Amino acid sequence: MPARASSIHGIEMDLVLEALARRHGYDFRHYARASLKRRMTGLAQKLGCAHIAELVPRVLHDDALLPEILAGLSVPVTEMFRDPPVFKAIRDTLLPMLATHPRINIWQAGCATGEEVYSLAILLKEADLLHKTQIYATDINDIALAKAEDGIFPAKAIEKYSDNYLKAGGQGALASYFSMGYGFAKIDAAIKEHISFAHHNLVADGVFCEVGLVVCRNVLIYFDRVLQDRVLGLFSDSLSRGGFLCLGTKENVTFSAAAPLFAAVDPALRLYKKRG
Ligand SMILES: C[S@@+](CC[C@H](N)C(=O)[O-])C[C@H]1O[C@@H](n2cnc3c(N)ncnc32)[C@H](O)[C@@H]1O
Repeated sequence: MPARASSIHGIEMDLVLEALARRHGYDFRHYARASLKRRMTGLAQKLGCAHIAELVPRVLHDDALLPEILAGLSVPVTEMFRDPPVFKAIRDTLLPMLATHPRINIWQAGCATGEEVYSLAILLKEADLLHKTQIYATDINDIALAKAEDGIFPAKAIEKYSDNYLKAGGQGALASYFSMGYGFAKIDAAIKEHISFAHHNLVADGVFCEVGLVVCRNVLIYFDRVLQDRVLGLFSDSLSRGGFLCLGTKENVTFSAAAPLFAAVDPALRLYKKRG
């Protein structure tokens, strides 16, 4: 466990984290401290607590509040085809290699509200691979997961994401994968049927399934080095031999204890391959 803080805020945070870990098994003690402090302060304000420590009895005695607490501590910020060059590289480099497999299993960890996993599924559809693909999309935040499973987004957001889609090599119209109505866009059932959504905690849960590609972007940045190493080991264990790993553009395996497990495919775009 990291060194204990001595400031009042630090002590209060430790108490809440201890309560969450011991009462519910959710261990945030290896999350990067500064952003966790911001989120915990925001959560305390939202729940009408004058001090962070007032979250402790809520954590201990109000089980129904747990999803809101987990949602408050997570950052489900996302968008479709975020960092388009990464999606273009998945389209042009990874999918042709995955195409040789009889079945394609993909684990997208930290799916938030689903924009990224639907982007992946659209790439697979356009490469004519979706019919033989199963994508497992997981997150710790059940409120975000429920939105992801609904697959309903503001129509205006789809207009905004169209630019990303085109930059990622899209040839058609992003809107064609949605049915539009009342200012909202609902993802087509034919895209969604290849995705299973599930609660999975990268801190505590084990290997999810054997997959040829793990996509986990903009999640490790919230973890300290110890936790990053654990999670990268988990991804290596989940990947079949020669399987691919895609991280966020601010994340990498280079300085991790897990570095020997992976070879770079495109280091700038954070695409790696599990070593044989
Ligand atoms: C910033 S979002 C990234 C969304 C998407 N991958 C992207 O890059 O656009 C980070 C997500 O990681 C999830 N997360 C945080 N800790 C997690 C954990 N221990 N296990 C699984 N997911 C976690 C959060 O709930 C949040 O939805």
